[in-house]
Amino acid sequence: MSFIVAIDGPAGTGKGTITKLIAKEMGLVNIDTGAMYRSITLECLNNGINSALSIVEDKEKIIEIAKKCKIEIEHIGEEQKIILNGKDVSKEIRSSEVTALVSPISSIPEVREIMVDLQRKMAEEKDVIMEGRDITTVVFPNANVKIYLDADVEERAKRRYKENIEKGIETTYDEVLKSIKERDENDKNKKVGALKIAKDAIIVDTTKLNIEQVKEEVKNIITEKLK
Ligand code: DC
Repeated sequence: MSFIVAIDGPAGTGKGTITKLIAKEMGLVNIDTGAMYRSITLECLNNGINSALSIVEDKEKIIEIAKKCKIEIEHIGEEQKIILNGKDVSKEIRSSEVTALVSPISSIPEVREIMVDLQRKMAEEKDVIMEGRDITTVVFPNANVKIYLDADVEERAKRRYKENIEKGIETTYDEVLKSIKERDENDKNKKVGALKIAKDAIIVDTTKLNIEQVKEEVKNIITEKLK
């Protein structure tokens, strides 16, 4: 039986950074499910689906794309590479074009079904730390550890803006704040796989904590469960 740590929360709570650090320190396999929805979105963009309207009009085409996409997560040392149809797309999937369309594309129930199946397969026979929006509620409702990371929206926008600047992605703070608010709204109101706090999840509010403090708090929660 594998040991599963499931982490959910909105954009900008530090889920990605925290899970990467904890995976390394605790010997768990790190799975970033947002990167999987981003990969499908990138493939849609590459196939000319590039607006909210085309997402509605081309729903069947998007489902076909999701069925055909081969998504792999390669772990090389600390780094996690996202491989889409044999190509490393780790950087491309963070672009603002992908970010703008990923939430509506991830709202398509059939796309979610395909991703959830793949996420469960990825965790077979492995001890994993998986992060996303519906991991504690849909993908692994019986996970050994269930955590919901949260933070004020302005603080999350500040963190994401800083991250973008460091990665050389050009944006303004106001654009990031607007995009996060839109995604929050969309992610919380999806018909399937909406972002919700599982009844038995432990909530960690990261607003006033730095990465090191959040990491320690999450590690303590996991260590308690391992006892
Ligand atoms: O974590 P992220 O910002 O990279 O995720 C990108 C988008 O993917 C996010 O707006 C919502 C969606 N997503 C989802 O619907 N379900 C998940 N398990 C993970 C992400």
